[in-house]
Amino acid sequence: MFTRHTLALFGLLAFASSVHAQYNYSKDISRIFQAKCQQCHREGDVAPFALDSYATAVAWSEDIKNAVSQKRMPPWKPVDGYNSFRDAWGLNDEERSMVVNWVDAGMPEGDPADLPEPLPNTGEWALGDPDMIVKMPIEFAVPARKDTYRCFVIPTSLAADQFLSAIQYLPGNRQVVHHVIAYVDKTGASAKYDGKDGSPGYDCFGGPGDGVAEDATSMLGGWAPGVRARFLPDGIAMKLPKGSKIVLQVHYFANGKKDQTDQTKVGLYYSKNSVNKLLAFLPILNTGFKLKPGEENAEVTAQFAIPPFYDATVILVAPHMHLLGKQIKLEKIGIDKKVDPLIYINDWNFSWQGFYTLETPMPLPALSQLKVTCNFDNSDKNPKNPNNPLKTVGWGEGTEDEMCVGFVGVVFDRQGLPFVSKRTR
Ligand code: HEC
Repeated sequence: MFTRHTLALFGLLAFASSVHAQYNYSKDISRIFQAKCQQCHREGDVAPFALDSYATAVAWSEDIKNAVSQKRMPPWKPVDGYNSFRDAWGLNDEERSMVVNWVDAGMPEGDPADLPEPLPNTGEWALGDPDMIVKMPIEFAVPARKDTYRCFVIPTSLAADQFLSAIQYLPGNRQVVHHVIAYVDKTGASAKYDGKDGSPGYDCFGGPGDGVAEDATSMLGGWAPGVRARFLPDGIAMKLPKGSKIVLQVHYFANGKKDQTDQTKVGLYYSKNSVNKLLAFLPILNTGFKLKPGEENAEVTAQFAIPPFYDATVILVAPHMHLLGKQIKLEKIGIDKKVDPLIYINDWNFSWQGFYTLETPMPLPALSQLKVTCNFDNSDKNPKNPNNPLKTVGWGEGTEDEMCVGFVGVVFDRQGLPFVSKRTR
């Protein structure tokens, strides 16, 4: 006979054992890997191995434990608690410890009947067939031993202005394409750089070159590993003027393998409904800074006030620095001085820059301010410092120069007004 007391004890034991319950692959871990790893760890994608079966998970288990507990993987940069983003693939503490406990417990498989449905294979174009597909003019031979940043000029041959509600970038070779940023060249200015070194395109590190993308609607977003294509909210579009060209800036990493080539494609989705707002990118930037040689924590800030009558809404953010960057923070400062965090990255890595879409668009009333704060390490303690010997570093587009920019993707309530955001340099 059990007394109430022993029953209670049983209950407690059952509780205790559920706390230490072993997580198994089929029920628990596979679901974490699907949601937070397979963006990149799948066949043909950017990561060096697929994480889509029990066998691969076991084969990589020690590395997984290390990478996850040391927070190297997954490479999700925004700090928790400073805004929330769509399609976030960061692990929370509970998920981290589940993965580690599972490896420590000897990787129990569980019942394969509990496995989740494999993620749908969406084919190449996640949003369906694009209205127009354009691609880089050449199959580019990617240097094996040196990171390459190259701009490719793609004519659109549009007979009339076109509004786009989505763009999908499709890297031709995910083993080497690290990120893509696209600009509209409305004036043809890219012609003064294109092909001048004997092959199509031109080297470009920080941006597409002077004169190529001069106003707030010249940026078309981009792709980095893990980024998914999405439609903009109804009524919002990006504009591709008649006769314009797309300039694709592609960062290739040197993976040491010979004979790698890439021809990245761009799928353009035309707006099907009427468009009343354009997505604009406000670059909040400081171009006047000087980082002294040896300076370990130089802080650079820039602030921009939204002009009177230009009430707006923030849709996405894209912080940008080069190799000396340590931290970057973007904030909105309200008219009442209330500070709302837009994004905070406290371990900047040039290799993992992204476009982050806000979970909830943030109102940006006229006269509120956008502020960017960048911290740089220009000492020899920074292993990525490209300058040896150390030197004073200021604004510029080269690898050895720096930038402090918060790109803020906004829509303005009133359209038709010229909202050219002047680039100062
Ligand atoms: C945004 C893309 C991306 C996501 C998401 C991602 N990885 Fe990776 N992973 C990579 C790339 C690329 C590499 C190759 C090494 C590098 O560039 O850091 C890598 C390497 C690794 C390695 C081997 C190298 C090391 O650091 O030990 C492990 C293990 C790993 N990933 C585990 C995971 C796990 C587990 C997850 C999910 C919880 C995950 N990754 C999510 C892109 C990603």
